[in-house]
Amino acid sequence: MSETLRVSVWRGGADGAFRHYEVPRHASQTVLDVVTHIQRRIDPTLAYRFACRVGMCGSCAMTVNGTPRWTCRTHVDAVAAGGALQIGPLRNLPLIRDLVTDMREFFDKWARARGRFEGERTRRDDFARVEPGSPRRELAEAGIECIGCGVCYSACDVVAWNRDYLGPAALNRAWTLANDARDVAGAERLRAVAGDAGCHACHTHMSCSERCPKRISPTAGISGLKRASAAAALRGEL
Ligand code: SF4
Ligand code: SF4
Ligand code: FES
Repeated sequence: MSETLRVSVWRGGADGAFRHYEVPRHASQTVLDVVTHIQRRIDPTLAYRFACRVGMCGSCAMTVNGTPRWTCRTHVDAVAAGGALQIGPLRNLPLIRDLVTDMREFFDKWARARGRFEGERTRRDDFARVEPGSPRRELAEAGIECIGCGVCYSACDVVAWNRDYLGPAALNRAWTLANDARDVAGAERLRAVAGDAGCHACHTHMSCSERCPKRISPTAGISGLKRASAAAALRGEL
C-alpha cells in the first residue's frame, strides 16, 4: 500500500475545478476521513457536510471516483484505484460550494410526493396494532430505513434528463407510506405520484437500487406505485 493518497477535490461552484492534495494513508481510513484531513490540516476553506460519521444521518454523500456514495462508510481501500481518489459533490443537485449541494429540491420533492405520514388518530385513541408479518407491513418495512442521503437521486439518469421527476427517494417514501396501514392519504398520495413527473417516468434502470447504501430498492417501490396508481385509475379513483 502506498503511503500517500493523491486526492482531487472539487473546489468552487458549478464553474469550479478539481484541486489536488496529498493525504497520508492509514489503515481503516474512510473517504470522509480524507476530506476531513484536507479541511483540518491543509485547507480550512474547504466546504463539506457530515454529522454522525456512522451511516445514520445521510449528510455526507459525495461523488467518489465517479460514483455517488456515503463517504463516512466508504473505506479508501475499497475505492482508491492505484492510490488516487477524485471527490466531487453529488450530481443532479444545485451546487452551493465545493462538496456541498443544495438539498432543497430533493426534499421539496418528498413534499410533492406527499412523503409525510397522514394519520387520523388522536392521542386519546388506542395505539394502532399492525401485524408484523402482514404483507403491507413487510412492504413498508422494505423502504422505511431511508436516511435521505440523496445517493439514489444523484445516480438516477431520469432526474438528470427531467429535473421535474420526483426521483427514487421521494417515490420510495410515498410507497412506504402507501403501505402503512395507519396512513389515510391513500388516493391523494397516488394522485400526487401518478403524474408525468412521477412513478411512470421511471425507466427501471436500477441505478438507484444498486447504489443505495441502505440496500433499499426504490425501483421495486416505484413498480408498486405504478401498479397501484394504474389500478386506482381503472377504479376511477384518480
Ligand atoms: S430505477 Fe427509476 S428511479 Fe431508479 S435510477 Fe432508474 S430511472 Fe431512476
Ligand atoms: S433510498 Fe437509499 S440512497 Fe436513496 S436517499 Fe434513501 S437511503 Fe439514500
Ligand atoms: S456522516 Fe452521517 S451518514 Fe455519513
